[in-house]
Amino acid sequence: MVNQAQRLSGLLNRMLFFSVVALNRKLMDVTQPAKIVAALDKHLPDYVINCAGLNSADRAERDPQRAMLLNAEAARNLAQACGDLSIPLIQLSTDYVFDGHYASGYTEEDDTRPLGAYGESKLQGEAYVRQLLPQHIILRTSWLFSDRGDNFMLRLLAEAREHSLMHAVDDRRGCPTSAFDLARVVLSIIKQLSCGADAWGTYHYCGAEVTTRYGFSEAVIAAARQYEDLKVDSIQPVASKDYVTEAQRPATSVLKCGKILNAFGIRQRPWRIELQRLIREYYGQVRL
Ligand SMILES: NC(=O)c1ccc[n+]([C@@H]2O[C@H](COP(=O)([O-])OP(=O)(O)OC[C@H]3O[C@@H](n4cnc5c(N)ncnc54)[C@H](OP(=O)(O)O)[C@@H]3O)[C@@H](O)[C@H]2O)c1
Repeated sequence: MVNQAQRLSGLLNRMLFFSVVALNRKLMDVTQPAKIVAALDKHLPDYVINCAGLNSADRAERDPQRAMLLNAEAARNLAQACGDLSIPLIQLSTDYVFDGHYASGYTEEDDTRPLGAYGESKLQGEAYVRQLLPQHIILRTSWLFSDRGDNFMLRLLAEAREHSLMHAVDDRRGCPTSAFDLARVVLSIIKQLSCGADAWGTYHYCGAEVTTRYGFSEAVIAAARQYEDLKVDSIQPVASKDYVTEAQRPATSVLKCGKILNAFGIRQRPWRIELQRLIREYYGQVRL
């Protein structure tokens, strides 16, 4: 005899199960429309999440055509193919669509004005998605960090093992966001869309608490020192004018996240808590 509680837990388990197919460049090159169509036909997804792109601002500045190809034309290809099959698209985008002059931060309604090729290409990608596919979520985020891949946190740890003195910019403000936290947000949005939430459009999400690269670097090193004896003795704050990079970066990258709270009930998580968790997981995996 199956009681109600068992029936309910069986149903819930089925509903909790999401099957995620992660396709790399070999399996679905987003610059090739035919490859996208073939992959969508094969997997028949309920949603597509576009995480692909050229995401180094400096590389984009060196090769703006490639940035346009991967960040704008690829988004257009995906939006076109998804539109043909009525599949909603979640398109990740960036704080770099803004010029960074608003010290108080940016809402989704504020004017965009990218400072360089990376922001230009992402903004063009957003425009294609809006134009071609009404059922879209454009999710702008900032300063992603993770315990894998190539990102600021892991590059910082690598540097801290090699050098006793490090420098970090202390006059650009933004909000670090853990990739894990962003995945949680995307999942929450998809669940609510699946339940009929009619909330298509552009949203901001980033971790809670504004900091600088210097502030974030100090937090990463302090968290990592609980697990590893790093070589670095001191991190010195520097002005962005003394830390020249190919791409110009916004002075304030703060994304205001009120709209996503109102539409989906998604509240910003403090990046410091996410950082502690990620560092713990990172040191659980790596052998030093
Ligand atoms: N990183 C940040 O701080 C940050 C901040 C704000 C917003 N975002 C946004 O978040 C999203 C993810 O960024 P990320 O930093 O996680 O990116 P990432 O680590 O650089 O990953 C980009 C991925 O795109 C893949 N890719 C490149 N060309 C492709 C192609 N032709 N076809 C299919 N896949 C291709 C890459 O594969 P390969 O490894 O094979 O090249 C890579 O796995 C982007 O939309 C970005 O604009 C990032």
